[in-house]
Amino acid sequence: MKIIASLFVVLLFGCRQPSSSEMPEKIPVNDPHSAANFNEVVTKHLDLDIAVNFDEEQISGKAAWTIDNTAKVDHIIFDTWRLAVERVTLGTEEKSTAFTLGKDSGYLGRPLEIKIDTGTTRVNIYYSTSREAGALQWLKPQQTAGKKLPFLFTQSQPILARSWVPCQDGPAVRFTYNATVRVPSNLSAVMSAENPQQRSPSGVYTFRQQKPIPSYLLALAVGDISFKAIDHRTGVYAEPSVIEKASWEFADMGKMVNAAEKLYGPYQWGRYDLIVLPPSFPYGGMENPMLTFATPTVIAGDRSLVGLVAHELAHSWSGNLVTNATWNDIWLNEGFTTYFENRIIEALYGKPEAKMQEVFSRQDLARAIKDLGETSMDTRLKLDLAGRDPDEGLGTIAYDKGFAFLRTIEETFGRDRFDAFLKDYFSKNAFQSRTTEEFLGQLNAYFEDDSKGLEKLRAAEWIRGVGIPSNMPAAVSPQFTSIDSLLKQWEATKQATGLSKLIVSTNQKLYFLRKLPSSITAEEMATLDKEFGFTRSGNAELQTAWYTIAIQKQYKAATPYIEKFLIEVGRRKFLRPLYGEMVKTAEGKAWAKQVYQKARPNYHPVAYNTIDDMLK
Ligand code: BES
Ligand code: ZN
Repeated sequence: MKIIASLFVVLLFGCRQPSSSEMPEKIPVNDPHSAANFNEVVTKHLDLDIAVNFDEEQISGKAAWTIDNTAKVDHIIFDTWRLAVERVTLGTEEKSTAFTLGKDSGYLGRPLEIKIDTGTTRVNIYYSTSREAGALQWLKPQQTAGKKLPFLFTQSQPILARSWVPCQDGPAVRFTYNATVRVPSNLSAVMSAENPQQRSPSGVYTFRQQKPIPSYLLALAVGDISFKAIDHRTGVYAEPSVIEKASWEFADMGKMVNAAEKLYGPYQWGRYDLIVLPPSFPYGGMENPMLTFATPTVIAGDRSLVGLVAHELAHSWSGNLVTNATWNDIWLNEGFTTYFENRIIEALYGKPEAKMQEVFSRQDLARAIKDLGETSMDTRLKLDLAGRDPDEGLGTIAYDKGFAFLRTIEETFGRDRFDAFLKDYFSKNAFQSRTTEEFLGQLNAYFEDDSKGLEKLRAAEWIRGVGIPSNMPAAVSPQFTSIDSLLKQWEATKQATGLSKLIVSTNQKLYFLRKLPSSITAEEMATLDKEFGFTRSGNAELQTAWYTIAIQKQYKAATPYIEKFLIEVGRRKFLRPLYGEMVKTAEGKAWAKQVYQKARPNYHPVAYNTIDDMLK
């Protein structure tokens, strides 16, 4: 009996390897951050027709959704956040229908429930955005590089798309889109789609995204934007005064796409362009399909920070092609991407460069685990963000522990076998959303012949365990060993003269700053500053590392530079440690509040919501 039963199981599950068309696609997903009933009725395509009004700081228009009512239900639920919904109609004939906006649940917004028929295929929503829309930042001309024209950009990840388009706002839902966007005729518009390379005299732009994307990849930027090609399929958008610097900095974009394709299969999105946004962009980069959004703080003038481009490009596979099913699975996006970024860097700039980045990642991981506490549930790869704003729950664990886990898999099975698995994984799961458990199932199935390897890997511990698993491989960089001895020497002599000839690259300087002893004094900082010029550096990574120590040690020479930096730059990754250091003392907190008064109007909602909490 037992034998028959297990034979049955083998027949049912074991014999065939599912091909890509047979992959399970319809497992219901439980997304704690969306009220949409997408497991019953799901959006497939969006026709967006909107006008962008800078005077009112408002987007308004029509979102026409093509839907697939698989469960034949009588209502469809969308996510919204402070959208004013004027009217809703069904079909191309625009028959009006009943709708209700449900209870406001804070960061989750309000569910929009619309009455449909079992045969309804199209739902038209006429709406406008609120001034507080979390995805939108409306910039005054003064906040741009050109200082003459206003600018607007969106940031939809993780759950802010609902503040500018009514949508089923969870990463398990995918749709294609067409958009018509009406902007003032002296401005250009670009989206996460096929983009214009020239200004439209009418101010009307049309876009097409023919690949199915999740809502968090909906993106729009409007401003005085020009374009410069890098090669046949890559290029840079930026304000005219920034375009030359930007295209120099990102000259390797084409080569990066080629290197990435060689690793994990063809680039599926057509063009790969990047737009440099004004300095208030709250992130380093955002992987909007076909058009990465980037902070101007990556333009260091020496191409030292272009790892960020490799990262956002890598998301074209890990994230945009195969997407985390919920934000609890975000390591499938960010951990894979951090690993993939490192592989692109290695392919293009060599192993030493890649190893240095890996050392930084391990340092960041150690710090994150120390800050969260070794037993914190938030140190697990699979997160539990239910009941929390995902924006606050998402930290560097997904990136750095995820990267370390993939490195562990690579070392366990060997690079060739792991690369073959990844290539296969991206192709089999293309344009699908996946949970951590689904990934693990596929990994186990792929390596099932190597039970020793699987045992050694201890994947369950990585995913569900807290802290750092004991089988994590160490990252060692010979480029940093020399810095270690220079640090020792400096600690013994406190002699800074000549060091800048030995500590040359941005990576080495960063490593040096990260490892300076906490006993350093303001006087000693002055001698290092004289040697390296850290205070006046134009490299935002170095500035942040140095200014953090300067605040801690009350190195006053840096004060005006810190203030200028905080007022100009809105990238949250830099703001957090700087304000975080300032609020540690009463005097520092008073200073922080005074600077923040001037700086806050420049920040994106994503940034000021975080800093508001820190300065309470
Ligand atoms: N997708 C992320 C940005 C993000 C994550 C926005 C979660 C909202 C929620 C993007 O790819 C990213 O990771 N950006 C990093 C840069 C990267 C080089 C680590 C950033 O902005 O610092
Ligand atoms: Zn990322």
